[in-house]
Amino acid sequence: MHKGKQAAALAAIQMVKPDSILGIGTGSTVNIFIEELAKAGVRLEGAVASSESTAALLQQHGYEVLDLNMTGSLDLYIDGADEANHQLQLIKGGGAALTREKIIAAASAQFVCIVDDSKVVDVLGEFPLPVEVIPMARSYVAREIVTLGADPEFREAPRTDNGNQILDCVGMHIDNPEETENIINNISGVVTVGLFAARPADTLLVGYTDGRVEERTAQ
Ligand code: 5RP
Repeated sequence: MHKGKQAAALAAIQMVKPDSILGIGTGSTVNIFIEELAKAGVRLEGAVASSESTAALLQQHGYEVLDLNMTGSLDLYIDGADEANHQLQLIKGGGAALTREKIIAAASAQFVCIVDDSKVVDVLGEFPLPVEVIPMARSYVAREIVTLGADPEFREAPRTDNGNQILDCVGMHIDNPEETENIINNISGVVTVGLFAARPADTLLVGYTDGRVEERTAQ
């Protein structure tokens, strides 16, 4: 098991209020979090999942999966990231769940992001920026992204849980994440860009292979 991811996941468990409704994201770090949560015997009223795969893992461990339309706002959302800068702005969507992740983050009072130290960067963009697109708009959006100086690569994978496709944008040096988030979100046919800048994480738990965890909070 990846020690840095596990350290961050274990630290996040301390933030979970028993018998609450928790928002839970997608990815290998979150999967460790769910496994450890179950192992620790933490009970939940239920969880809102950002993907079908997370929902399946939660159910496998006996947690009830709830519809965000029925829960109202959430107190806490826990999710991983592909990159995090020092302002706690993120690139997400390596696991193709970016749109649902952004919705749950928006609907949550607290967003705690769990990463290993390899994910922390000075400038976002070394990780190819995922953009979820409506399938018929794929080529148009790709051409627009080229004008921004990036190289969009079509992700040859099954469609997202929303039935859409992903363009991974290579070669972006994102100096102004909020501006880039706005520009890409405004291209017709884009469902969501995987930049979490306008709504960054509130807390970043950075796990190291020696088990240490650094807690960073938004300034
Ligand atoms: C899924 C995501 C994940 O949080 C991100 O890809 C990190 O994944 P992992 O924990 O496997 O490194 O955004 O859409």
